[in-house]
Amino acid sequence: MTRQKWSSRTIFILAAVGSAVGLGNVWRFPYLAGKYGGGAFLVPYAIALIAVGIPLLMLEFAVGQKMQQGAIASYKKLHPAFSALGIFAVFSAFIIVSYYAVVMAWSLLYLLASFRLGWSEDASAFFYGEVLQISENINTIGGINWPVFIALLLVWIAIYFCVWKGTKSVGNVVAYTVPLPVILMAILLIRGITLPGFLNGWQFYLIPNWQQLINPEVWTAAFSQIFFTLSLAFGTMIAYGSYKNSDDDIVADTWTTALLNSGISLFSGFVVFAVLGYLATIKDTPVPELAASGPGLAFIIFPEALSQMPLAPIFSLLFFIMLLTLGIDSAFSLVEAINAGILDLRSDWDLAKVSLFVCSFGFIAGIIYTTKAGLYFLDIADRFVLNYNGLLTGIFQAILVGWIYGAEKMRRYINEVSDRPVGKWWNIAIKYLIPIVLTALLATQLTRDLTSPYGQYPAWALSLGWACVIVPLTICAALLLKNWQKLRRRSPQTF
Ligand code: PHE
Repeated sequence: MTRQKWSSRTIFILAAVGSAVGLGNVWRFPYLAGKYGGGAFLVPYAIALIAVGIPLLMLEFAVGQKMQQGAIASYKKLHPAFSALGIFAVFSAFIIVSYYAVVMAWSLLYLLASFRLGWSEDASAFFYGEVLQISENINTIGGINWPVFIALLLVWIAIYFCVWKGTKSVGNVVAYTVPLPVILMAILLIRGITLPGFLNGWQFYLIPNWQQLINPEVWTAAFSQIFFTLSLAFGTMIAYGSYKNSDDDIVADTWTTALLNSGISLFSGFVVFAVLGYLATIKDTPVPELAASGPGLAFIIFPEALSQMPLAPIFSLLFFIMLLTLGIDSAFSLVEAINAGILDLRSDWDLAKVSLFVCSFGFIAGIIYTTKAGLYFLDIADRFVLNYNGLLTGIFQAILVGWIYGAEKMRRYINEVSDRPVGKWWNIAIKYLIPIVLTALLATQLTRDLTSPYGQYPAWALSLGWACVIVPLTICAALLLKNWQKLRRRSPQTF
């Protein structure tokens, strides 16, 4: 069977940008910029982008494109013992998509509530009370919250129809769902800058607070944001790279994807802070207080601001269509990573059936987040899988390509197919910089989590988070060692 391919280079770029640009750009980036020193945050952000983000993205595109397979089979080709690393990445992708789809389900409920501006009286009560029906704490699971459950089912049906014909259906979808949210963002920007107070928001966004740069937390936040926003370490970009022709350009596509993604983040910062500036003015509250609301930014603060402006239902509708169309490309890119992982091992299986299987399981795995304690579970899964599984995969894939396969060998391939070559700095980034920086981040995080456990969760709940890291890690490490020994026994001279 011939491997599926993107119909054109533009479609590939749209799909890759669609995966990268998601909820991470619209609420996470502005929130972090607000929290960590406004314009000053851009310094560690840019350093993380150049030092880790771009080299790793290039690595993932190159691995997928050269091997013409998804994460599991590609890693196996790099070194026969390393299919386990692919399994780890794909498993983590599954956990992420199972909760990412739930955030989209909330957006869908907000979209429906836009017509009546359900949150206009009390945006916080609407989010926690009406939408989440949140329980007192994680010990009270409180049964299923049916509206979220049904919205989740609808989101999964939509995801299924995006991926069921592979690159063909994905290609058709991204042609609309990638440009559309950017256009909506531009409309919201124009709305924002015609409101009083927007400059206060921009001032806060742009005026750097350089003192923040001595805070190590700012640096950890910048690096993990780059990881998340570029969809690195979960097999997505490898799968997408594998649908390119093996002689397509890699260097230019990497820069285009990364720069478009960061450009859209910066742009959405202007939108979010203009609207926050407006809300701060009419509520007579300082902008930093609003900006520091974290996860509440997209579902409490921003909707509240929307409900205060003229033509509120229309702008609310546009905002939630934007969130949904942004989110869906990221969500199905994770499903694509899982599909590719499975289909490369079982090439005779039917794509539509595998997609149905993955989407059904994704939905079932997401049911826990549709309970009344769902937000707590989501917070724990997000925190552990992103921070640990992502970093671990990042470290190991840099070691695998840099040291075991050979960075220079991969760089030669990249340069053979690319118009503009990448310099030797790429080897240094892959072999030294990335393993060292990511290990340091991992160690900082581990120390923080061991000395002061995350959130105010009971031990049983946090152990679920640790289980998402430790169980697949142990299984995959055991598999890797077993394969390694088997190979060693078979051909000792190669070791
Ligand atoms: N990049 C996406 C965002 O910013 C999230 C994502 C992470 C998607 C990992 C795929 C893989 O929202």
